[in-house]
Amino acid sequence: MKSRIFYPTEVVIEAGGHRNLLSYAPNIKRLFAVTGHSAMEKAGVLDAVRAQCATAGVELCVHKGISTNPLHTDVDAVVEACRVFGADTILGIGGGSSIDVAKMVAMVMTNGGSCWDYISIGGKSLRKIETPTLPLIAVPTTSGTGSESTPYAVVTHAETKMKKGMGHSFLYPEMALLDPELLALMPLEQVAVTGFDAFGQALEGYTSGRSTLHSEFYGYSALKLIAENFERVFDCPEDLEAKAKMAWGATLAGVSIGLVDVNLAHAMSHPLSGRYNIQHGRAVALCTAPAIWFNRAHVGDKYSQAAALFGGGGGSNDESAKSLIKAFYRLAEKFGVSLELKSYGLGDVDMDAVTTDALEIGAINTNVRPVTFDDVRTLFSHVWEGRYA
Ligand code: NZQ
Ligand code: MN
Repeated sequence: MKSRIFYPTEVVIEAGGHRNLLSYAPNIKRLFAVTGHSAMEKAGVLDAVRAQCATAGVELCVHKGISTNPLHTDVDAVVEACRVFGADTILGIGGGSSIDVAKMVAMVMTNGGSCWDYISIGGKSLRKIETPTLPLIAVPTTSGTGSESTPYAVVTHAETKMKKGMGHSFLYPEMALLDPELLALMPLEQVAVTGFDAFGQALEGYTSGRSTLHSEFYGYSALKLIAENFERVFDCPEDLEAKAKMAWGATLAGVSIGLVDVNLAHAMSHPLSGRYNIQHGRAVALCTAPAIWFNRAHVGDKYSQAAALFGGGGGSNDESAKSLIKAFYRLAEKFGVSLELKSYGLGDVDMDAVTTDALEIGAINTNVRPVTFDDVRTLFSHVWEGRYA
């Protein structure tokens, strides 16, 4: 038995903390900020960062426009802009997409090449991460991906549409700031969709085939916080304490998967996002119930424990899995998140291609129950119909 924790990130939870950002990182001279399209600008958050930099004499370059499911060519263009600016520190402020791009920028700045060179295909990557990244500050504005607390970054190839993650301990940010004021800006659709990602990651971390004492503890603790706060953050967006707890749940889920990786539902989600541009949390939500049912006889009493957090649990493996799925379906219905892939207006989905891509995601090998091509193909047919079996 072996269980190891390595966690190099300073995590601050502070309502309004984005207005004190530089107090946590006093030695910056040239800050390169990466963010999404418009949410942070509209809410005046970027102005708050600009004002601090002006007061502290820090040169700031803000790079806006990161889209959900960022392409490798987009990341490479941001690296170029960052090189021209000559940053000494990178700030990712936004959803997981912005933070992932910030991570890859911080890494490619010191390691060179294209971000795609670090993605492994068939078990091999062109380059390896060998040099520590530029210092990176992550300010998540969704409570979902845990990018602020994982050693991963995820990117889609512009031509092949293959979406894959890279992993290295250097990709842990130096600092993560969870500011519930920023999370309160999320539209309800994002609260729901990104929350399902956090739920999925907590569950996958908790029930991983590579489970350790540490990953189980962080996965379960994350799931508990998410179970207790998910509906609350949807129903009462002004409740900053609930927002902070949900954010901490998402971060802890990130810590858990940072130790043991994600598994089945996440591996299946990536081709849906890469090929059909479905937002990550939605793709994870689509795949989660079939994955729970598939794994039900292989997770000991963990689904019972998980279901108990939602007021159910107990009984046989089948009963526990059904209870957990029922809780999950209830939330999806309440939040208006469709779990039928066929309702997404995608036309024909190439089931063989998404299955092949899912099997190329290394994380699938950490699933507690080994999967075959036929298993995953069948699971995708359930996802299409919105059934768990
Ligand atoms: O573009 P803007 O205007 O910023 O709007 C964004 C975007 O439209 C909006 N948004 C985010 N925070 C907001 C907000 N709107 C209002 N108020 C706020 N506070 O939300 C939309 C989606 O943003 P995005 O960053 O794409 O969402 P998410 O946080 O779900 O991130 C998804 C990405 O993270 C990756 C996913 O694959 C995907 O690419 N993941 C990263 C992981 C990691 N690094 O460890 C693990 C995860 O499993 C995941 O794969
Ligand atoms: Mn995820």
